[in-house]
Amino acid sequence: MTEKPAQTSVGSTPPELFTWEFATNPYPAYAWLREHAPVHRTKLPSGVEAWLVTRYADAKQALADARLSKNPAHHDEPAHAKGKTGIPGERKAELMTHLLNIDPPDHTRLRRLVAQAFTPRRVAAFAPRVQELADHLIDQFAHKGSADLIHEFAFPLPIYAICDLLGVPREDQDDFRDWAGMMIRHGGGPRGGVARSVKKMRGYLAELIHRKRAALPEEPTPGEDLISGLIRASDDRASDRLSENEAAAMAFILLFAGFETTVNLVGNGTYALLTHPEQRQRLQQSLAVGDTDLLATGVEELLRYDGPVELATWRFATEAVTIGGQRIEVGDPVLVVLAAADRDPGRFNAPDTLDLGRRDNQHLGYGHGIHYCLGAPLARLEGRTALATLLTRLPDLQLAVDSTDLRWRGGLIMRGLRTLPVSFTPTQSW
Ligand code: HEM
Repeated sequence: MTEKPAQTSVGSTPPELFTWEFATNPYPAYAWLREHAPVHRTKLPSGVEAWLVTRYADAKQALADARLSKNPAHHDEPAHAKGKTGIPGERKAELMTHLLNIDPPDHTRLRRLVAQAFTPRRVAAFAPRVQELADHLIDQFAHKGSADLIHEFAFPLPIYAICDLLGVPREDQDDFRDWAGMMIRHGGGPRGGVARSVKKMRGYLAELIHRKRAALPEEPTPGEDLISGLIRASDDRASDRLSENEAAAMAFILLFAGFETTVNLVGNGTYALLTHPEQRQRLQQSLAVGDTDLLATGVEELLRYDGPVELATWRFATEAVTIGGQRIEVGDPVLVVLAAADRDPGRFNAPDTLDLGRRDNQHLGYGHGIHYCLGAPLARLEGRTALATLLTRLPDLQLAVDSTDLRWRGGLIMRGLRTLPVSFTPTQSW
């Protein structure tokens, strides 16, 4: 509990958003907005104007409001800007059918299908594989005494985990790693190398689904992969049948939604622990005696304190809506700022303090309402395994650079570090 509360008294003019300083530490600006302009209209770097919702109660209401659609077709943008706004889904129609771009009833149907295949049981059975992956990755650098935890650990862990869960054969997983690397390095925009990587990934997934459908045994086998489960769930209900395009879009969104988020949970979470030695020591002591309660509450607190998803994905008003006393017109885009809501003193006691044992921690890091993160059980499993394994195997892990030398990505939706250089006493592989 070493951090001072964020400064809120930065004057009466709105802080500048989307600058380098803001990317490094957006929390003082969010504190100002929460206090002075809780539903704030701003121009985004793409030129699109959108409402930022920063208070917890307003954010929760907005996330559950059916009048705020996820379908970019409801965006009232000027004709000359069509397809140039950077809003995912506006240009690539074939990517539109995934969960984060659709509303009920289509959303209800697709979500039910994937929930049937993506069960807590399937995730729980996956725990030994996640542990094996975490150990294997640490084995690659444990002898060196230093590493970049983003590239050598946080980045490969979720991509291999999701590939395994989906049923992407091991020999193809490095291709996925390269495509995902291109997407994370150059942002989600539909340009150049990113567009090519997205296209390759989708083409590959479509073909994989086609092959798996042709070879699917009549009865499910134990440990069946998720794509097969998805095909089975859709084939079981003739009326609910997933089209191949929907199935490819579903596999794609699982990869996309579950990848950079988890990289950032491990990256931001490790960084927060390394810069809060008291909290880190507390966690290491409890892990040393086999107590995992603090690990469980701690991962939730790391999500609240500096979570991977800074702003929830786009929403568009389908009718005039009032949020926090502010009228929002039809067609206006709304961005719910999860990072600001989760530091709201109106909801959380001492919100700028990291307290791994925090109780009553109903943070919005996984969203809220019908789009609540479908992968939360997997994210929790990966986050807990990654942090516990790092702290246990490299007990004197420390930052190898000054915090001020770290660079944050500065994307619109996600918050995460570009690199996380660390040092530790070299150890042998396990
Ligand atoms: C949705 C956060 C990991 C799959 C969401 C949303 C948030 C979120 C905030 C809601 C977005 C909105 O309402 O606009 C996170 C965080 C993660 C994480 C913080 C890691 C720490 C994962 C993983 C997967 C996944 C590992 C799957 C492999 C999804 C899917 C949705 C979603 C499919 C869309 C659900 C729907 O629209 O019904 N996530 N996520 N997420 N997440 Fe996650």
